[in-house]
Amino acid sequence: MKPTLYLYFFAVAGCILAEPLRFDEAQGFLKNYCGGCHSGKAGVGGFHLEKVKDKGSFAADTHSWVRLKTRIENHEMPPKGAPMPSLDAREGFATWVDAELKREACSLGITVGPRPLRRLNRDEYTATVQDLLDIHLDIGAGLPADGAGGEGFDNAAETLFLSPLHSEKYLETAKLAMDFAAKEYKSRARILVAKPGPGVTPEMAARRILQSFVPRAFRRPVADAELLPYLELFRASRSKGEEFEPAVFFMLRAVLVSPNFLFRMEQGEYALASRLSYFLWGSLPDELIFDLARDKKLNQPAVLRALVDRMLRNDRSQNFAQRFIEQWLHTRDLGGDKMPDAKLFPQYAKDEDLRGDIRLQPVYFFREMLIRKVSILNLLDSEFTVGTSHLEKHMGVKFPLDPGRRSQPQWVKLPEGSKRGGILGMPAVLAVSSYPYRTSPVLRGAFILDAILGTPPPPPPPNVPPLGEEKAGAAPKSVRERLAMHRADATCAGCHNRIDPMGFALENYDSVGRWRDEDGGKPVDNSAEMADGRKFAGPQELRSVLMEKRDLFLRNLTNKLLGYALGRGLTLRDSCTVDAIVEEVKQNNYSSSKLIEAIVLSAPFRGEAETIK
Ligand code: HEC
Ligand code: HEC
Repeated sequence: MKPTLYLYFFAVAGCILAEPLRFDEAQGFLKNYCGGCHSGKAGVGGFHLEKVKDKGSFAADTHSWVRLKTRIENHEMPPKGAPMPSLDAREGFATWVDAELKREACSLGITVGPRPLRRLNRDEYTATVQDLLDIHLDIGAGLPADGAGGEGFDNAAETLFLSPLHSEKYLETAKLAMDFAAKEYKSRARILVAKPGPGVTPEMAARRILQSFVPRAFRRPVADAELLPYLELFRASRSKGEEFEPAVFFMLRAVLVSPNFLFRMEQGEYALASRLSYFLWGSLPDELIFDLARDKKLNQPAVLRALVDRMLRNDRSQNFAQRFIEQWLHTRDLGGDKMPDAKLFPQYAKDEDLRGDIRLQPVYFFREMLIRKVSILNLLDSEFTVGTSHLEKHMGVKFPLDPGRRSQPQWVKLPEGSKRGGILGMPAVLAVSSYPYRTSPVLRGAFILDAILGTPPPPPPPNVPPLGEEKAGAAPKSVRERLAMHRADATCAGCHNRIDPMGFALENYDSVGRWRDEDGGKPVDNSAEMADGRKFAGPQELRSVLMEKRDLFLRNLTNKLLGYALGRGLTLRDSCTVDAIVEEVKQNNYSSSKLIEAIVLSAPFRGEAETIK
């Protein structure tokens, strides 16, 4: 193998093809490209190569290694004007640093990792209030949206602090929710478990109501003393002449703005109970889970396994599937910020049912996969999909739909030769990786590298002219021809030779994921050549290429799921946990349910080191 080719494989395949750089080779790289400014007396920017000159520095000065790797990876160092390493050398070096840092981190064994305090995000808050009060009102709509952190999800602790804006909105929302519940028969029955009656004073009744309500709200047992401030509110309200019921709802409003409700502050097995239910249901634990925690039975592998199975089958796991898939694949924005052009795609624009089916197809598919315990590789290629009558028409594929419920999403076998297996055959995914008015092999290629394989291309350099600008008078060129011109330029080729080919193979799908054999009157050219010279064509061969990279995909998905499950960004030391999970899933034929199970059974998820059995 030529050295550049070798490095390319190395960068993409991670440590699979092994034989990493030797330490002295890595030092050579640093000396060549960084030494001019960061050695001798120079040491500009507070960074000196002395800091990283021996192997002990991985442990002694991890920070410097992380910094220098990040600056290299982001193409910030060496700065413009200085001699540049090739993209392959750059990535080969960064991958080597990663591997070394990981080796260092894992030498200490598997660890639980950080457990930052975080509040419920908007979706969790909504679902929790709904379950707690038994109401079906989208009360979270008025709350500010949550940013994404860590592995790219909106449940990451890094982003979930409490701003003054939040506090005010939570007060309003708590009032709204309680006013609504006070009028609902079902909610009243659930909340008002005691009434003032013969021998029961209003205050005794209020206390009983709190004793049933607050532990559920706080997701842990609650001492009587903790109820006193709420009783105080009840008294204050009564002393102003309020009736019993309004005084009760006034008091309960305060529970909904308590940090114990808004933040995940549970301890021990109750923390595990909440982690589990917020992971798989996006809401509070039910009675069974709560009881298992109380009896200290929850943190047992057999119990957890059985629970995962039961929880995935429960309708509420739809919540998990939707939040995970839509954020992982970015399909959440589809129909909103990402809206295909209404003039070019009138059917999509006017048919709300079709839009809904398109958006939810990958969500249902993911959940069905878990329940059916099929291989996770079905996401890359599959004999099955989720179909509806709308999707059938849009995708131009005949599905064996159940005649009684043709418009309902259902797991269906794809006909032979449909070319629709896996998420890359789904219109939602093909649309979010397109522009509103045309497909972009670059966007789709970057999407595959990033979302699917977890090897994102470096960010594009600034000041690249957009594709649309053509010289006046020149014959119009196709997107492919224009991209080919870019790739002729060596500075562009470094990235685009890697990004574009996978996107070219998907050119038979238009920007809303319909099949096309022609584009602008010419036959679609779906041929592609990888950076290593290997040629392939069309979506089906692309799927084979991706299948060869299945372990890269599995590792990426595991990273995403673990980050989502823990509600935080992963650290270097979590990568040892990820390794173990990946290994176990491989041993189990890539089983999707095994993946969820292994995450729940992992040390960081189960928490408190001393309870790991
Ligand atoms: C032409 C001079 C030059 C070269 C060559 C150079 N750097 Fe720098 N470096 C700088 C300057 C100037 C700063 C301070 C300004 C800044 O941080 O951007 C800096 C800052 C840094 C910092 C410290 C800032 C931080 O993020 O903590 C690191 C680390 C770094 N460089 C790494 C490298 C690495 C690794 C290389 C080689 C791949 C390299 N540099 C090559 C000029 C250079
Ligand atoms: C460091 C890697 C990198 C380099 C170098 C690079 N690009 Fe890109 N380019 C990207 C990425 C990543 C995207 C996708 C951006 C996104 O996700 O929006 C992109 C997008 C584009 C697009 C938009 C594609 C479309 O369908 O409209 C064009 C055009 C483009 N690049 C041209 C160039 C040209 C010309 C050069 C050389 C001068 C160049 N790029 C160099 C990474 C790179």
